Amino acid sequence: MHAAEIDAVKADALKEVDAAESAEQIESLRVKYLGRKGLVPGMMKSLKELAPAERGPAGKAANALKNELTDKLRQALENLQSAAPARQTPDFDASLPGDWPHLGAVHPVSRIIDEAVTIFNRLGFQVAEGPDVETPYNNFEALNTPAHHPSLDPVDTFWFESDSLLRTQTSPVQIRVMESRPPPISIVTPGRCYRRDTMDATHSANFHQIEGLHVSSGVSLADLKGVLAYFARELMGPDVNVRFRPHFFPFTEPSVECDFSCHVCAGAGCRVCKQSGWIEIAGAGMVDPRVFEKVGYDPEETTGYAFGMGIERLAMVKFGIPDIRMLYENDMRFLAQFA
Ligand code: PHE
Repeated sequence: MHAAEIDAVKADALKEVDAAESAEQIESLRVKYLGRKGLVPGMMKSLKELAPAERGPAGKAANALKNELTDKLRQALENLQSAAPARQTPDFDASLPGDWPHLGAVHPVSRIIDEAVTIFNRLGFQVAEGPDVETPYNNFEALNTPAHHPSLDPVDTFWFESDSLLRTQTSPVQIRVMESRPPPISIVTPGRCYRRDTMDATHSANFHQIEGLHVSSGVSLADLKGVLAYFARELMGPDVNVRFRPHFFPFTEPSVECDFSCHVCAGAGCRVCKQSGWIEIAGAGMVDPRVFEKVGYDPEETTGYAFGMGIERLAMVKFGIPDIRMLYENDMRFLAQFA
């Protein structure tokens, strides 16, 4: 073949490659032209049949054909491969944002429980738990709460017919623990509580408390105050103030209520603290000797304090949540803020 003929073959070959639409077609073109029995090796072999003067230009043209076609075939295959995914799934739009897995987050109620337990652990308190369904004895009677006490009223308590109830406080765990072992005792008991409250911004029929109980000998109200003040600072930050007001609980004597200074206005008075500068956080007091008698401890020898706090209240104060219902609605716009 003369150089001009070889160039014509090259032009055809390159066009054929341009038209190829699949890897198979490209491969069959490669075989047709460059394969062992293909056109190009054939040309090379037949060069010697040409007149000596024509051999040089024809050889050059054949080499050019071989090199250009080799490049072209490789390029065509690459183009096909990079375009391949789009061809196979024409609906795929690589520019769309990815489908992110939704990562969960710890619920603010659980976060407060975890933080509170961690803080009390540092002071030597261990976690104890009790059941949600309690006996009236553990929930009321052993806690020195007489039968005529208003909290026994069915309007406040969820009763089951079989003389059991949904605990209205975590305090019955105090009884369970003291009945199970002798002092010293240092426990905290986070858990669910139930009261027949109508839901509003600060009430929920199902809520959580964390109870604390420390029983030993020579325990005083000063110990209780120190522990609650430490807890307040660890949870809310070093600037929080605490105050104690006299109060009444059937199972503590004396009894107090513990307030934290309002974190929103730092005690100056605002809507959150109803202008008082303080937020009610815990009920507490020295364990009433009558409770010790009920659980079989010697009330002369034994002293201790107990406290109980609402977890939701702590979460609302710490995170600035204005309505308790937000904690239960499972609204992702709310919950995602705690991720
Ligand atoms: N159980 C009480 C309540 O629910 C709180 C409390 C716990 C008070 C322990 C004193 C001691 O209101």
